[in-house]
Amino acid sequence: MVAWGHPVALVIKGILTAEDASRAVEHGAAAVYVSNHGGRQLDHAQATIEALPAAVEAVAGRAQIIVDSGFSRGTDVVKALALGADAVAIGRLMCWALGAGGQAGLETALRLLQEEISVTMAQLGVTRIDQLNRERVITSPA
Ligand SMILES: Cc1cc2nc3c(=O)[nH]c(=O)nc-3n(C[C@H](O)[C@H](O)[C@H](O)COP(=O)(O)O)c2cc1C
Repeated sequence: MVAWGHPVALVIKGILTAEDASRAVEHGAAAVYVSNHGGRQLDHAQATIEALPAAVEAVAGRAQIIVDSGFSRGTDVVKALALGADAVAIGRLMCWALGAGGQAGLETALRLLQEEISVTMAQLGVTRIDQLNRERVITSPA
């Protein structure tokens, strides 16, 4: 993939504010990666699910949006997709599954995650990811 004149796709990770999301796009990012690095850089950093809507708004379709940090259930993934993420990444969940059961453990974890996503979508009455939108999520007042 070639984006905005860069020889490789530029993905900028660690975005938590609308301002940084906009800057990332202005500097040619093909994807804005909303992340607090799993909370490993700054204790009590903002939760990415809370930072996501403002980043999505700032990017306004000019780049893909990836989000991670603390996603471990299908409901977590569905909420992020409904709030405008194009992809949800997982880190420690894979490590825990691998540690607990090796390859089989990882396969089980991914299958469970996929089932949870399907069940959550069914409970919401949607059959396609593009039917998910912000109206499906109740967010806390600012
Ligand atoms: C052991 C470990 C090492 C990591 N090292 C880096 C790193 O060098 N650079 C980085 O951007 N993120 C790093 N991360 C963060 C992950 O890329 C990712 O953002 C994070 O794990 C996502 O949150 P989650 O683990 O809750 O899914 C690391 C995470 C773990 C668990």
